[in-house]
Amino acid sequence: MNEGDRVTPIFPKWTNQIPTMVAVGAPIALVSVVLFIWYFFSPKWTDVGYTPKQPVAFSHQLHAGQMGMDCRYCHSTVERAAFAAIPPTETCMGCHSMVQAKSPRLQLVRESYQSGKPIEWVKVHMLPEHAHFNHSIHVSSGVNCASCHGRIDQMKVVGQTQPLSMGWCLDCHRNPTPNLVPKDQVTNLAYDPAKEGYVPEKDPHRQRGVNPPQHCSGCHY
Ligand code: HEC
Ligand code: HEC
Ligand code: HEC
Ligand code: HEC
Ligand code: HEC
Repeated sequence: MNEGDRVTPIFPKWTNQIPTMVAVGAPIALVSVVLFIWYFFSPKWTDVGYTPKQPVAFSHQLHAGQMGMDCRYCHSTVERAAFAAIPPTETCMGCHSMVQAKSPRLQLVRESYQSGKPIEWVKVHMLPEHAHFNHSIHVSSGVNCASCHGRIDQMKVVGQTQPLSMGWCLDCHRNPTPNLVPKDQVTNLAYDPAKEGYVPEKDPHRQRGVNPPQHCSGCHY
């Protein structure tokens, strides 16, 4: 930019119209933001089937399925917090300092343990910033992990099985009962409440009914 460009006065006359422009512009801007969010967050993160390659070939089918490890052994905060923790390398090394201690498939795990740098797992399920999700309320109400994540215990590589879209959340919130299981079965992914004839209202371990939010501010704030 050179000196000659700076000829406009500091407050030209058109600035008188700024209030009108804001009044007209704000809704347009809002709609653009919504469309922007829609465009950017829908295709990538809500895609069913999204199965990124992970740095270590960790298999849920082996650990959670065949070996029968409980989800909470590794995802230890899922009942208490919004976020379901991804286990630190120490959790793996509790076994793998002995089991398969020389396997090349665990090379990265050993390196991470020695350096103290966490393994860079690729996130699979992801909501946009403007939508709030909390694991603890769902898990403590008896919604099985499988309702939202599918049969993780049968997956060699984790992939997304549900759309995680707003319509999907609301479908369950309008009628949660068929998705409820006894609270001690939330990590038993094979548990089918219909087959077991489970009736939440008759469960003596439930002190209250569930009432998931359907109003906007329940999930957006
Ligand atoms: C031995 C530890 C361990 C156990 C047991 C385990 N997980 Fe995981 N889980 C991991 C690790 C490590 C990752 C990250 C790498 C990956 O995605 O495979 C992960 C990733 C996940 C993800 C994807 C997270 C994301 O990025 O969106 C879900 C969902 C999940 N686990 C659910 C479960 C469920 C359900 C169970 C029980 C049936 C379970 N896990 C048992 C270690 C474990
Ligand atoms: C409770 C013990 C235990 C824990 C905790 C555990 N594993 Fe394993 N893991 C095993 C066993 C047992 C095997 C099967 C070994 C075999 O096939 O000989 C195995 C196999 C593996 C293999 C395949 C190794 C090969 O060469 O075939 C990988 C990779 C692996 N585990 C990664 C992990 C990661 C990553 C974690 C932490 C998130 C973890 N494991 C936590 C017990 C464990
Ligand atoms: C009602 C649906 C629902 C249930 C039930 C549920 N999850 Fe999730 N899970 C999600 C959503 C949605 C995300 C993405 C959260 C985000 O990006 O904010 C997620 C993310 C995760 C992650 C990645 C870390 C994180 O918190 O973002 C792990 C690990 C996970 N879930 C494990 C589990 C396990 C284990 C269970 C069962 C004990 C479970 N989930 C039950 C919906 C659910
Ligand atoms: C399979 C059923 C199911 C799905 C899918 C589901 N929810 Fe829920 N949600 C529930 C139940 C059950 C409750 C508990 C209501 C209660 O205890 O009164 C709940 C409660 C909530 C609450 C209230 C938390 C609080 O602190 O009061 C929020 C927020 C919420 N869900 C957000 C979401 C979002 C966001 C999604 C989609 C990403 C989602 N839920 C998907 C069943 C579900
Ligand atoms: C049960 C939780 C929940 C409730 C209630 C809810 N939303 Fe959402 N909303 C979500 C989730 C989750 C997403 C992200 C969906 C995605 O990534 O595809 C979302 C996305 C959006 C978006 C972005 C566009 C899109 O589809 O991605 C807008 C705008 C929006 N919600 C507005 C609203 C309004 C207005 C209400 C009230 C009428 C409302 N939401 C109620 C969970 C909820």
